[in-house]
Amino acid sequence: MAPFLKSLTLSGRRIVAACVRHHSSFTTELIGNMDKKAAWDRFYTESSSGSPTFKHFEWFFGFDSVRDFVMPLLQTNSHSDALLRVLDMGCGTSALGPSIYRHSLLPVQVTCADISPVAVRLMQEQAQAKAIQPHNPSSQLRFVELDCTQLLQHYGSSSVDLIIDKGTTDALLRSKEGKGKASLVLKQCLEVLRSSGSLLQFSDEDPDARLLWLETEAQQPGVMKADVGVQEVGELRGVCYYCYQVTPRLIVK
Ligand SMILES: C[S@@+](CC[C@H](N)C(=O)[O-])C[C@H]1O[C@@H](n2cnc3c(N)ncnc32)[C@H](O)[C@@H]1O
Repeated sequence: MAPFLKSLTLSGRRIVAACVRHHSSFTTELIGNMDKKAAWDRFYTESSSGSPTFKHFEWFFGFDSVRDFVMPLLQTNSHSDALLRVLDMGCGTSALGPSIYRHSLLPVQVTCADISPVAVRLMQEQAQAKAIQPHNPSSQLRFVELDCTQLLQHYGSSSVDLIIDKGTTDALLRSKEGKGKASLVLKQCLEVLRSSGSLLQFSDEDPDARLLWLETEAQQPGVMKADVGVQEVGELRGVCYYCYQVTPRLIVK
């Protein structure tokens, strides 16, 4: 490992652990700037250059590690819309969204959204080059350039069934100016989720810190009330990962 990594903070080391395999020359610029579109554009440009064939880049881990947390949430459709709406928020070039599209038994509309147009273009090109056959022929897959601090400009209230966030809130919380953005994103996620819906955050942040943050944010004035839970995903390269599930609280009248 390069010498500069030794001086990083704990969270910095974890960021490096997540991406050092492919991008060791670029990690210093990314750390502290993980809420910046330009930093991610460079990350995905570098990750795709020098390789003739596209390869999905997975932050932490891929679909197989999280499918048991994700797929059970797509087994019932309690509303009249034909499609369950799924958002992979800050998808990067992960195969998570395409894998959900492929494996879901019920018809889903999976939106893979990212602030980086480079990541979105790579995903679009890959989907065109290599068409995926969904299990359910009515399912849809789309790729959208979207700043998740502006979710409400793209989704109506109570219109989304499942939001998946693998490393995106982590990126915001760990950047110099991103904490306010992370709060804004959580607030908007709760607004656009159906009452039967869930937000899943996959993260390496310890429950002591993340649960406190989620519970505190969900009690702020103007934020939909929510229940928060956590399960361990497992350990990878010596780091423990968690799945935080946030569900809008049902208001009994
Ligand atoms: C840690 S990476 C995780 C990528 C992907 N989810 C994965 O598991 O490989 C964080 C992602 O969030 C995206 N991102 C950062 N800020 C964002 C924002 N405001 N809106 C949408 N995406 C954002 C970045 O471009 C990057 O792709």
